[in-house]
Amino acid sequence: MLLARRGVFSLLSLLQVTLCAVHFQSPSDLQDIEYDFIVVGGGLAGGVVATRLGENQDSKILVIEAGPSNDDIFATQVPGLESNVSATGTRVSWNYTTTPQTHVNGRVDLYQRAMMLGGCSSHNGMVYTRGSRDDYDRWASVTDDDSLSWDKIFPLFFKAETWSGPNDPSLPETGHYDPSLHGTNGNVNVSAPYHVHPLNDLMVEAVKELSQSSDEFPALLDMNGGRPIGMGWEQDTVGGGFRSSSATAYLAHTGDNVHILLNTRATRIMPPADDHLSKGHPNSIDMRSVEFSTSPIGPVYNMTAKRELIVSSGVINTPQILLNSGIGPKEELQALGIKSLIDNPSVGKNFSDQPILVIGFSTNLPVDDFNMTAALAEWLASHTGRLADTPHLAPLGWVRFPATANPFKDGSPDPTGGTNSPHVELFFKNVTFIPGQETSMGNATLGMSIVNLNPVSRGSVTLATSSPFDAPVIDPNALAVPLDTAVMLEGIRSAQRLFSAQTFSSSVFGLVAPKPDANGTLTDEDIIDYITHNVMPDLHGVGTCSMAHRGADWGVVDPEFKVRGTTGLRIVDASVLPFVPSAHTQASIYAISEWASEVIKSSWK
Ligand SMILES: Cc1cc2nc3c(=O)[nH]c(=O)nc-3n(C[C@H](O)[C@H](O)[C@H](O)COP(=O)(O)OP(=O)(O)OC[C@H]3O[C@@H](n4cnc5c(N)ncnc54)[C@H](O)[C@@H]3O)c2cc1C
Ligand SMILES: *[C@@H]1O[C@H](CO)[C@@H](O)[C@H](O)[C@H]1NC(C)=O
Ligand SMILES: *[C@@H]1O[C@H](CO)[C@@H](O)[C@H](O)[C@H]1NC(C)=O
Ligand SMILES: *[C@@H]1O[C@H](CO)[C@@H](O)[C@H](O)[C@H]1NC(C)=O
Ligand SMILES: *[C@@H]1O[C@H](CO)[C@@H](O)[C@H](O)[C@H]1NC(C)=O
Ligand SMILES: *[C@@H]1O[C@H](CO)[C@@H](O)[C@H](O)[C@H]1NC(C)=O
Ligand SMILES: *[C@@H]1O[C@H](CO)[C@@H](O)[C@H](O)[C@H]1NC(C)=O
Ligand SMILES: *[C@@H]1O[C@H](CO)[C@@H](O)[C@H](O)[C@H]1NC(C)=O
Ligand SMILES: *[C@@H]1O[C@H](CO)[C@@H](O)[C@H](O)[C@H]1NC(C)=O
Ligand SMILES: *[C@@H]1O[C@H](CO)[C@@H](O)[C@H](O)[C@H]1NC(C)=O
Repeated sequence: MLLARRGVFSLLSLLQVTLCAVHFQSPSDLQDIEYDFIVVGGGLAGGVVATRLGENQDSKILVIEAGPSNDDIFATQVPGLESNVSATGTRVSWNYTTTPQTHVNGRVDLYQRAMMLGGCSSHNGMVYTRGSRDDYDRWASVTDDDSLSWDKIFPLFFKAETWSGPNDPSLPETGHYDPSLHGTNGNVNVSAPYHVHPLNDLMVEAVKELSQSSDEFPALLDMNGGRPIGMGWEQDTVGGGFRSSSATAYLAHTGDNVHILLNTRATRIMPPADDHLSKGHPNSIDMRSVEFSTSPIGPVYNMTAKRELIVSSGVINTPQILLNSGIGPKEELQALGIKSLIDNPSVGKNFSDQPILVIGFSTNLPVDDFNMTAALAEWLASHTGRLADTPHLAPLGWVRFPATANPFKDGSPDPTGGTNSPHVELFFKNVTFIPGQETSMGNATLGMSIVNLNPVSRGSVTLATSSPFDAPVIDPNALAVPLDTAVMLEGIRSAQRLFSAQTFSSSVFGLVAPKPDANGTLTDEDIIDYITHNVMPDLHGVGTCSMAHRGADWGVVDPEFKVRGTTGLRIVDASVLPFVPSAHTQASIYAISEWASEVIKSSWK
């Protein structure tokens, strides 16, 4: 019955037995079909929304994605090949860079974004962290709508997740997570993969030791329970030795009523040309049409969604598309010769990303290098071994500073959403030899990152030109507010306190980056100098099309993800989050996209 109603494509599907989305490689392949929903961007959020809307077999969905299918890129499958696929300068990268960062000595950084199905979930670091309950409750308070509160969102983490269990029975996960906090019947595979390294056990020992004398580093069974403070084990979007993404876990399982147009860039959104199609209301503009093309000189196509257009092009490209379409700060757009349609000063502003700083400790722990050829052969044969894990080490830590800590001594307010939230993340990368950091014969570097999880500084995404094919101007404006540097400094002091445990006395020695002076002294000024030369963006940007409460004099979308001043247009992606969570961003975005899908579906019941 269901199949019969689906028309011409169901025959094909029956023959192939499994149903799946229909891919078009070029706009000229599109057939004359009217789509109910058009999703602009087949990334993390777009993949979720298109899949959920497609569950109504009567709806026809079109996804427009700038890049190719993730299936074309082998390294997207293999967790340990993360850096191969996330590197800039590949055909699935937007190749973005930041503006010179004023408060980081003019430093220019890459701002990696993936251009393929699954978006950044097809190339990211796979770390799965939900953040603290305060993060969600703060979003609920800013938007004056409890839909985004932790308690309301919590079931949606389960809906989006399947705890996949250990891929390799010799690497059991018992004691590394709390099963009661995880879904077993959702989409994205999550597990706690690791590789054997002495740091794993040493960290457990050190936490036991330090907990006798301080409450800075409590043991944390599971960092996804709403209060991520302490030292625990990393969880990742990995299952069965494969990366799990919104492309593999959602889009790959849709019916053939979901069509995906690849290699095609949405250039503008606009009102439908045909007036009689327009469903605008007096104070809002109908924005259900999208224009797209494959190159700056290629033919230009357009299409109107019968019901809604959903923009899910991510924190950089969603504001770019709106700005190009005349939705944004009127004067800025007019200066570029773009006709203003809706004057909204918030579009592209309030860009917020976590500053991250790589530091290194001298160590005699074994270098965790491996034979890539042998590891790849093992992965191909059995999906196990070193490449079935992410490249980084398994321990992961989250520290909340007391109210009396140094960053707050000048009266600076707590930047977090509340006392369940950590201020910094301690991320342990690997043990390796780094030229110049071998402080004495045989010592390697334990490389780690300090992340300031709740930055106060705000940057922007603006247009360089009126060509939709030109890169926008990306300015995270890192460290603009001194508190952000002070939190980073305290994060480094915290890492020093961790490695001062007796447990590490014969394995992890002092810092080598930043490097102490000849007497072994490292002053606050030295560290601040290091911070203000080396901070980078953590690629967890949010906020450029922020959600705000109804009637707010700022913000871009309302709590139903509708773009202010429009009808038929919503935004669902990282750009709507008003604050970055105390976490890596993907778990939040999966859950928020699940919520947005429910909102959209219920408005068309
Ligand atoms: C290198 C890297 C590592 C990361 N590591 C982690 C991690 O370990 N854990 C974690 O939780 N988070 C991580 N993140 C962050 C996380 O992946 C992102 O926050 C998340 O993917 C954002 O989802 P999104 O849907 O907003 O955007 P995206 O996933 O970026 O999707 C946007 C999609 O829109 C497409 N698009 C853009 N413009 C257009 C256009 N004009 N027309 C058509 N299509 C368009 C893009 O090609 C892309 O597919 C990482 C990010 C990066 C870049
Ligand atoms: C991944 O990158 C590494 C380091 O550049 C390289 O040695 C390896 O061949 C690459 N592997 C694949 C499968 O692309
Ligand atoms: C990024 O650079 C690579 C290598 O030059 C190229 O193939 C790709 O098309 C570039 N991406 C964009 C969006 O221009
Ligand atoms: C999830 O992992 C299971 C094995 O645990 C595997 O069979 C399945 O294909 C994976 N699904 C995705 C979407 O990766
Ligand atoms: C869409 O394209 C058609 C023809 O291809 C054109 O007539 C129409 O004006 C376009 N719509 C808009 C809004 O530009
Ligand atoms: C940025 O966000 C804050 C709320 O966090 C808001 O008060 C302010 O108006 C926003 N700025 C813009 C330009 O939207
Ligand atoms: C360890 O980290 C360094 C520095 O980031 C990197 O160059 C190297 O490839 C990493 N080694 C492994 C095995 O991941
Ligand atoms: C790496 O592994 C391959 C395949 O097993 C082997 O041929 C090669 O000698 C190894 N390389 C080193 C440096 O051990
Ligand atoms: C190098 O390692 C040795 C132990 O092997 C240690 O005693 C020494 O302090 C380390 N050097 C530095 C500069 O950390
Ligand atoms: C190291 O200490 C000595 C003695 O206290 C002092 O003379 C010297 O200036 C110090 N060196 C540095 C680099 O601070």
